[in-house]
Amino acid sequence: MPAKASKATPILLVAEEAWKEIAAGLSAPARRFAETHGFEGKSGKVLAVPDAEGRIEAVLFGTGKDSGLAENPFLAGKLPAELPAGRYRLEGTLARPDLVALAFRLGGYRFDRFKEMERPSASLDLPKGVDAGLLDALADGVILGRDLINRPANDLGTGELAEAAKALAAKHGAKLREITGDALLKKGFPLIHAVGRAAENPPRLIDFRWGDPSDPAVTLVGKGVIFDTGGLNLKPDNSMLLMKKDMGGAATALAAASILMALNAKIRLRVLLPMAENAVSGNAFRPGDILRSRKGLTVEIGNTDAEGRLILADALALADEDKPDLLIDYATLTGAARVALGPDLPPFYTDDDALAEQIAAAGTRSSDPVWRLPLWKPYSAMIESKSADINNAGVGGFAGSVTAALFLKRFVTETKSYAHFDIYGWVPSAKPGRPEGGEPQAARLTAELVISRFGRR
Ligand code: BES
Ligand code: MN
Ligand code: ZN
Repeated sequence: MPAKASKATPILLVAEEAWKEIAAGLSAPARRFAETHGFEGKSGKVLAVPDAEGRIEAVLFGTGKDSGLAENPFLAGKLPAELPAGRYRLEGTLARPDLVALAFRLGGYRFDRFKEMERPSASLDLPKGVDAGLLDALADGVILGRDLINRPANDLGTGELAEAAKALAAKHGAKLREITGDALLKKGFPLIHAVGRAAENPPRLIDFRWGDPSDPAVTLVGKGVIFDTGGLNLKPDNSMLLMKKDMGGAATALAAASILMALNAKIRLRVLLPMAENAVSGNAFRPGDILRSRKGLTVEIGNTDAEGRLILADALALADEDKPDLLIDYATLTGAARVALGPDLPPFYTDDDALAEQIAAAGTRSSDPVWRLPLWKPYSAMIESKSADINNAGVGGFAGSVTAALFLKRFVTETKSYAHFDIYGWVPSAKPGRPEGGEPQAARLTAELVISRFGRR
């Protein structure tokens, strides 16, 4: 039963060690109800307890042992799905009210484009100290990213992904250019063209700029493979199933851009989204082909399934021509990254130690965790080619995420601060605030990083 418009139902945070004391402060019916249900403050347990009239007196939210919500503010993402409709407020002091409010908002997300779903309809009064504008910017960005990743490839082709970029650019007055199909050859993006030319969905490059040209230049690049069949090196059955999410890097770049523009970051932003569908047909690029990239480096195709690094190579080369103050790319680049760190902890790579520290710290501060892996130079030997400057697939299959990062690095030679994120872009099984499905990993981290480094206007 919804709470009255004027009154929000309190949510009591209950650590296991504090349960006895909190129970003593409840009405007798509420306390008895909680005892009957065996509530003892276990982490993530939600229980609405009644007063003598049978109305909700309070909601008990177990935060487990020790630091609970202070250690994991995203636990609050469990609440919206478990609360009856109505308005709520959190009682007590919160270490990170901003993340708690964000987790609550993100926990209510559902991908309902193709199916009617019951959306959680509990709302949370903003805890003290939460900046509503910041919260909206973060939530809107993440939701944009999730929606894009969740849309299947028959609904989101390169054209639709480009539309999403155009809509975002238009909303913030960014200037956008688009290069499509064979024009990519004329304008010097042979690798993007080669990867995408076999598909009916033409390959594209989206390039938009926003902000004051005199502010520090930040360029975000995202892998936009709208579906990855593997190409002629076709992926076997199960490995192809989730490949609609192979534009997760582009979705993340858009999510981060959305947040940064909404918050008026004091930067000159550029977003580059190389897009292609890695498909199979008579004119598909082949294993053994040697292509000349935008940068002039020749690339031997060891495996058509290592397509992401190809389209990124041309986009990164273009980004590098500008020498931005900060260059970041996001890509669902390798299965090896998942083997190393699992789906929730994307690795990142950079040669800039100061930047690495800032990234790790921003990830921790924003509950958007990442882990640094090394650009281990000696492994470059694994991507050497006998007939070209470089091979797109490593021999031996060792250190796949590292060799992919080393490959990308060859195309960034002028920019001092460059980082690459090998993201999964997907939550395989729901966690608080992170429903199963698309997730623009490292987008919130990026906003935190860029704003703490360059500030807001
Ligand atoms: N998009 C995939 C990487 C991927 C696979 C990400 C599964 C997340 C889950 C990428 O294009 C790819 O196929 N990479 C190959 C590279 C290999 C052929 C050198 C891989 O990781 O197996
Ligand atoms: Mn692939
Ligand atoms: Zn791919």
